[in-house]
Amino acid sequence: MSKVPPIILNNGVEMPQLGFGVWQVPDDEAEKAVATALEAGYRSIDTAAVYGNEEGTGRAIAASGVPREDLFVTTKLWNADQGHDATLRAFDTSLAKLGLDHVDLYLIHWPLPSRDTYVDTYKAMEKIYADGRARAIGVSNFLPEHLDRLTAETDVIPAVNQIELHPHLQQRAARERHAELGIATEAWSPLGQGKGLLEVPAIIAIAQKHGRTPAQVVLRWHVQTGHVAIPKSVTPSRIVENLDAFGFELDEEDLGAIRALNEDRRLGPDPATFDVV
Ligand SMILES: NC(=O)c1ccc[n+]([C@@H]2O[C@H](COP(=O)([O-])OP(=O)(O)OC[C@H]3O[C@@H](n4cnc5c(N)ncnc54)[C@H](OP(=O)(O)O)[C@@H]3O)[C@@H](O)[C@H]2O)c1
Repeated sequence: MSKVPPIILNNGVEMPQLGFGVWQVPDDEAEKAVATALEAGYRSIDTAAVYGNEEGTGRAIAASGVPREDLFVTTKLWNADQGHDATLRAFDTSLAKLGLDHVDLYLIHWPLPSRDTYVDTYKAMEKIYADGRARAIGVSNFLPEHLDRLTAETDVIPAVNQIELHPHLQQRAARERHAELGIATEAWSPLGQGKGLLEVPAIIAIAQKHGRTPAQVVLRWHVQTGHVAIPKSVTPSRIVENLDAFGFELDEEDLGAIRALNEDRRLGPDPATFDVV
């Protein structure tokens, strides 16, 4: 049994608050990493068509013996497949690669506002949702203005917006808008990609105070702030370490010190202009 508590999405579906991400992990390596993660107790896996590892992810899921109903599998529609019909085709391809008959969450990977196709794309996803082939649908990298348009022009409020979010980029305005709309906030690059952030003296000091690692402190911050977080690692010891963000509590002083680390600094592209297909 996983010790990760769920959050309840706006359609009543439960999503583990901590999951496992596989961006930049080649297919074969993803199979190994996902197998290690499932063995360690993760029950939520975050992949995407563009990661090129849906097949390896699917093989690890099939071999794990974990009952399908205990798993939460997310994949994402790549930019080149936006548009109504292309979305329906891309979803079939993703399901076939994963070897599944449904996913738990299907996301639009980027809004691509310059192409103006995310509303049509989402309408196709509403059909997938109505057919029960995705238990929840949502978006990724949507700015509040994209959410406002989407919610005005479609019927199903996205369950999730997966955005870049870590102590250097705390995204307060986006999180507030999500809360107003009933959208769960999911953090990508939750460890700030593991580089500078885990060496910040304030994070190290909090880790020492609690007898934890810097990564566990950052993941604990996500959990206590109410986000879903999906750390990635191909290192077995880190895969186990990252799941153990429970059983301790950051206090007000810790939370204040982490709040002060915000620099509004992105590691990834700006969703307002990113248009790579
Ligand atoms: N929707 C989007 O546009 C989008 C964009 C980016 C990412 N994502 C999702 O978010 C997931 C996580 O983001 P991410 O992969 O960018 O970054 P991340 O999870 O913040 O950091 C991953 C990096 O940190 C290292 N690391 C992991 N655990 C560590 C630990 N305990 N101590 C020290 N270093 C550690 C990893 O190294 P090793 O692997 O070598 O151990 C890896 O280099 C992705 O895998 C993907 O699923 C989504």
